[in-house]
Amino acid sequence: MTSFSPGSGRRVAPRSQLSSDAPRRDLSGTWRFHFATRPDLAPADACRVDFDDSGWDEIPVPSHWVLQGRPEWGRPIYTNIDYPFPVDPPFVPDENPTGDYRVEFTVDDAFLTGGARAHLRFGGVESLCIATMNGTPVGVVRGSRLAQELDVTDELVVGSNVLHLRVHQWSSNTYLEDQDQWWLPGVFREVELLSRPGAGIDDVWLRADFDPETGHGTLVPEIRAGAEAFPVTVAVEELGVSTTFATPSQVAPVPMGEVEPWSADVPRLYEAVVSNAAETITVRTGFRRVEVVGHEWRVNGVKLRLRGVNRHEYHPDLGRVFDREAAREGLLLMKRHNINAIRTAHYPPHPELLALADELGFWVIDECDYETHGFEAGGWVDNPSDDPRWRETLLDRVERFFERDKNHPCVVAWSLGNEAHTGANTAAMAAWLHRRDPGRPVHYEPDFDGRYSDVVSRMYASPEELRFLSEGLGNNKLGAPGRAAALAERPMILCEYAHAMGNGSAQLDVYEELFDTLPQWHGGFVWEWRDHGLRTHTDDGREFFAYGGDFGEEIHDGNFVTDGMVLSDGTPSPMLAEFAAVCSPIKLVVDDLGLVIENRRHDGDTSDLRFVVVDEVAGELVARHEISVDPIWPDGAEDLDIPDPPAGVDGEVWRTARAELAADTDWAPAGHVVAFHQVRISAPPAAGARVAEREADEPTDRDGVLVLGRARLDARTGDLVELGGHPVSGPRLELWRPPTDNDRLGTSSAFVTTDRNTNNLVDHGGPTHADGWRAAGLDRLQRRVLAVEVGEDSIRVRHRYAAAAGRDAVVVELLWRSIEGELVLAADAQPTRGWPGGWPRIGLHLVLPPGVEDVEWFGTGPNENYPDSRRAAVVGRFLSRVPDLTIDYARPQESGHRGDLRWLELPGIGLRIAADEVAGARPGFTLRRHDVREVTAADHPHELPEPTATHLYLDAAQRGIGTLLSDPDVRPEHELRPRAAQWSLRFSAAPERA
Ligand code: GAL
Repeated sequence: MTSFSPGSGRRVAPRSQLSSDAPRRDLSGTWRFHFATRPDLAPADACRVDFDDSGWDEIPVPSHWVLQGRPEWGRPIYTNIDYPFPVDPPFVPDENPTGDYRVEFTVDDAFLTGGARAHLRFGGVESLCIATMNGTPVGVVRGSRLAQELDVTDELVVGSNVLHLRVHQWSSNTYLEDQDQWWLPGVFREVELLSRPGAGIDDVWLRADFDPETGHGTLVPEIRAGAEAFPVTVAVEELGVSTTFATPSQVAPVPMGEVEPWSADVPRLYEAVVSNAAETITVRTGFRRVEVVGHEWRVNGVKLRLRGVNRHEYHPDLGRVFDREAAREGLLLMKRHNINAIRTAHYPPHPELLALADELGFWVIDECDYETHGFEAGGWVDNPSDDPRWRETLLDRVERFFERDKNHPCVVAWSLGNEAHTGANTAAMAAWLHRRDPGRPVHYEPDFDGRYSDVVSRMYASPEELRFLSEGLGNNKLGAPGRAAALAERPMILCEYAHAMGNGSAQLDVYEELFDTLPQWHGGFVWEWRDHGLRTHTDDGREFFAYGGDFGEEIHDGNFVTDGMVLSDGTPSPMLAEFAAVCSPIKLVVDDLGLVIENRRHDGDTSDLRFVVVDEVAGELVARHEISVDPIWPDGAEDLDIPDPPAGVDGEVWRTARAELAADTDWAPAGHVVAFHQVRISAPPAAGARVAEREADEPTDRDGVLVLGRARLDARTGDLVELGGHPVSGPRLELWRPPTDNDRLGTSSAFVTTDRNTNNLVDHGGPTHADGWRAAGLDRLQRRVLAVEVGEDSIRVRHRYAAAAGRDAVVVELLWRSIEGELVLAADAQPTRGWPGGWPRIGLHLVLPPGVEDVEWFGTGPNENYPDSRRAAVVGRFLSRVPDLTIDYARPQESGHRGDLRWLELPGIGLRIAADEVAGARPGFTLRRHDVREVTAADHPHELPEPTATHLYLDAAQRGIGTLLSDPDVRPEHELRPRAAQWSLRFSAAPERA
């Protein structure tokens, strides 16, 4: 357990994951299992063939033992950076959970005939496994997410066999596997028994080159087999090519003639067959050429444009056990959202994932199973990347990872790992890869100076830093002085950006623009694809998705494990729609006269798309035009005339152009929107004019209740008590929002800097945004009534809001009138001078009765949107159920804001609220079953109390949601400084519905 070794015993040289017709037994199924809290409590003789395991439990293989609903077998632990035990390499605690696994299986003689050898192949065991076959130790397997084969020929017998595995949760290799994810022990990928025919083909690497000049393909085979395995034939039937090599020395490139290239956009695969007398191997190959030419990283001669995500292996019930259908669904969801690239953060995924990426089309950065982030706090002292004792193991890791995945056309770069700092060992890993595969670049983000990697990679760099890097200017994120100019000669990517934790992240459009315009930049990978909450139940049976701390961990990192664009239950978050809108490779610009269509795909024309323009007046569809256009080639654009928009109509005219799939594809049905653009055509109708001309009703005071048209107000406080016969209260000023994860964790830029040596963000302990708002008392404003004045045709109310101990205040004036059945509110908020910092919102809060089910609105939608994240929003009419307006983020927080409201109707209480423009702006709205205080107090959605009301917030402004870990997290133009605000609202009866 405590050696620096990469593993031992009958280890076989690493090979590709191959599809062969040689006999193979998948040993997945139900195994016998014994759990011990420490190794010395495990049954001493469990590896003996005649050991009686009938008293043991059962466990599925593959699985994690901590996800079997047996708390006595331990529970999941979540830490991001920290090791869950003392940093004392290579030692691990005595309390090292240990699982003993036993399985009995039979093989027939076909398995071992003709000099065949038997290999036991482990797909993934966390973290160390001692294997014993029929009572004989055969090897120690290390490297949790790496494949390892052991030769068990001498132990395997025809008939019944017993395999025993002893798995330790912690081992010296745990120090190399400190990725930001749950610690989940067990045999979590398949264990297979492979028959390796006597004169079989040990390994095959088919490099499938495409020459963009000639359109020709070449298959460059590398065949690992003994001389006795020859002749070996390489054939691609579809291309009519078959070549036989009589001896190993004859193996040479095979010209394929004209081929269709492979790309993420058009993932054209060919089936290649490599065979000899003993064995037939099938490889799905794709012809493509990957090269780095100056600062361009090209595939098939065209610069790559990565619109990517970081993808962990994750399933809400299974943990890191691979579920093919669920993984495929995930990839289809990516395709539907214009995601074209995956970084396999931070270890090689199940091999089948890469096969799916080949088939569906993704550019993949395949990453080795390597991270040592927990050494950072100690100044990287003893860090494995630079410690010779770990060299052999690290080289073994890179070799095993590369050899398994080398045949996949989707892999366009190899990544050494993540956050393991730098040193002689990472340099040696890169050198090994360069030697073995000169055809694909090496990526390693902590190689900030670009000493041994080929792609300049950064995490969470700000837009300014992207520009600096591109211009070759020095700043502290560029690494050692003097390297900046050299780095600007290379391709650049953000291996992580747009931290998607909770309600966020924003600014995707800012990055997209830079990726499109700065020559060295090739795009980036959002952190991250999906939340990793584990499906759990409360004692009374309510389901929730657990994050760090929910399993009673000693130390943990809370909900940092839920930072994806897809929630744990598979629900896409609004950020995913934003990503799709911003990152579409089809760019549309529509106006009254024309439509410009640009094709920025890597490959493939636009013949799969139809282009539609729709016109809406006041949210009602009035015209739909299908625009005919000849196919546009990649990098091409068309400027088209389109029919005139409707004229002489009353109401706002919005024109939307859409690129839709013309026919069903593997990943989406016909009609799926790939890109859109919306523009407003007409000027708004003059607001307010009608109001001035009409006569207002006179308020009356009935025993302390002011009656004004449809409203009743408390004569003492000026608060509404009833509207249209329904109990209502407010409006009250609201400056607080339930902190988003970014609000809660992000600090103002003054407190975060970048460490010159490590490139990591250093938090100097400054207050977070939410701390600042709390200090200003925004979550506990007290109110004092200044005046309630009943006039001839109006009621004027003035309230003063301020926090305990504070002098800063906001005075809100509410002027109520009732005109022809419409209750009109002109509201004005004026802060005193000197408010510190910023505010998250300036809103009016109305408390409506509980049980308001449905809402219809004319404004932005369909999803929640914020000032710095609204490219997925269009202006239109939308219908929703109230609970569907907000997102159940893993930790409850601000959600549901939709900017630019024109009107909303709540049929349940017969209420319509119209919002007029004031100084060119309209309020946004949030309608939620819980108020900001209830949401703030809850740590999980299931902790929210039974709703007792419906809460409507009408915000004159909200702060942006920003992007966590970037600096600044919210761009200055989307900050909200304390300021005055006005509202012009009209309350009336909602029209009757059929
Ligand atoms: C990065 C790291 C990721 C993840 C992310 C924060 O520094 O590479 O694994 O931890 O931060 O969620």
